[in-house]
Amino acid sequence: MSEDKEHSFEVAKKWHPEERKVECEWVMKHAPKLIGALEECIANADKNGADEQTVESWNQNLAKVQEIYENAVEMLEDLGGRTRERTHKVLNNYEPEVDSRWFVDGFDNFERKLFTSLMFGDPDRPKLIPLVKRFKEQGAPLNPGKLVVDDRGMGSGRTLRMLMDVVRAQSFMKIARKFAKNLHGIDIMPKNLQDAIKLFREGKYGFLTRNISVGDYLDGKKHRKDTFRHKRAHLITLMMHTLFYNTTMDEWIKTFTNIKADLLPKGLCVFDTVAMRHNTPEDLKKGEAFLDDLKDIYTRFWIQYCENNQRFMPEGIRLNEMERRHIDDNTTGKGFQVREVPDKKFIEYIIKRIGGGLRIVDERMRTPEINDQDAIVIGRKWIFENNFEEKYKNTIKERIEKRIVNPSQLLGRDVDLEKEPVENVIEELMDYVARYMVQQYQNHYFIIERI
Ligand SMILES: C[S@@+](CC[C@H](N)C(=O)[O-])C[C@H]1O[C@@H](n2cnc3c(N)ncnc32)[C@H](O)[C@@H]1O
Repeated sequence: MSEDKEHSFEVAKKWHPEERKVECEWVMKHAPKLIGALEECIANADKNGADEQTVESWNQNLAKVQEIYENAVEMLEDLGGRTRERTHKVLNNYEPEVDSRWFVDGFDNFERKLFTSLMFGDPDRPKLIPLVKRFKEQGAPLNPGKLVVDDRGMGSGRTLRMLMDVVRAQSFMKIARKFAKNLHGIDIMPKNLQDAIKLFREGKYGFLTRNISVGDYLDGKKHRKDTFRHKRAHLITLMMHTLFYNTTMDEWIKTFTNIKADLLPKGLCVFDTVAMRHNTPEDLKKGEAFLDDLKDIYTRFWIQYCENNQRFMPEGIRLNEMERRHIDDNTTGKGFQVREVPDKKFIEYIIKRIGGGLRIVDERMRTPEINDQDAIVIGRKWIFENNFEEKYKNTIKERIEKRIVNPSQLLGRDVDLEKEPVENVIEELMDYVARYMVQQYQNHYFIIERI
């Protein structure tokens, strides 16, 4: 099989738009310096006189570098602009407290239990040794007040507050207050830091606001110096999809290299992503719930992504067969951005790339705790904001017409299309799709250990 025909990660990477953006950005950063230097040499040669052949070769090189530079600018525009700029733009409009309310409502309870089990243990998971037992003191479990935590992409402080509550629920106030002094956090958005400071000022645990700062966790050196002050953590958290705001290969490598450097041996890191579900031929055979293929948020993202980006792929590379799952995401409702959803294989690949030292020790899948009515509201909002309204309605209409779906069966009532306007039935089926989409959405939690 020739290299171009191989559907491998390495081949895709070479052609991937995000990777190409990084290359363009590199050229745009370095080419102007080279252009300046060549122009200076040519100007000096004009003044002082120089060997004609040398000046000619400088001119040729200058033309070449200028062409490369202009191509990079053009290509970056074609690819939708700089990744980092776009991420900042979206994050700037994004209010975790408001825009991710549904996520908090749906997963807060579960995450509280998850952290309790990671710190203190869970009888249902005897194999996963909790932090207080991983770091024993003279044979006895570690005082939880001594655990050191770093929350990356802390938003407005939800996870840090949850961790303090978890320790308080398991031990005395005195211990929770001690633990609060060992919590650290970083977020790239200054407004999030302000919200977190406000939250902690009102708190009862005596959290040290000097332990949280504005910054990019990808910049490990700066983060270590400014916020973390060269400590090492028992626990690092990147909650609510923080990880995949950072999408390029370089960003993935930096994220995991920093986690590896900052965790104590036996320490744990927790992050979550969305569980990818691809429609299989078996799914499509299930005639009676045929609309279910519309419900899966990220399957839709993925299909959309493949449609949009297949044109960047060389012949023989099929995006929907790649291990990397890119999504053109608008879950925040604040603008589209390319995000990358890592699956287990991909995380293992990155760990290998950074030379090991980390391993996945646990995974958990979870659907949100959201009632039918709320799920419909959230799902409809999402369909609307992602411009899928028309697409979904047309698909439903077509399937009703072709008798692929049976509305009575899906809606659990007698639907008579001779008597009822089809638009009303489509509306009701849109609610069905929206409810399913939200209630069946799965969040995927990974627990990584430093070995
Ligand atoms: C969806 S919010 C989650 C907030 C919080 N972890 C929670 O669970 O409530 C993701 C956060 O990650 C932050 N973020 C993304 N990439 C980052 C980076 N490289 N460095 C620091 N913060 C980042 C964003 O600013 C945003 O506040």
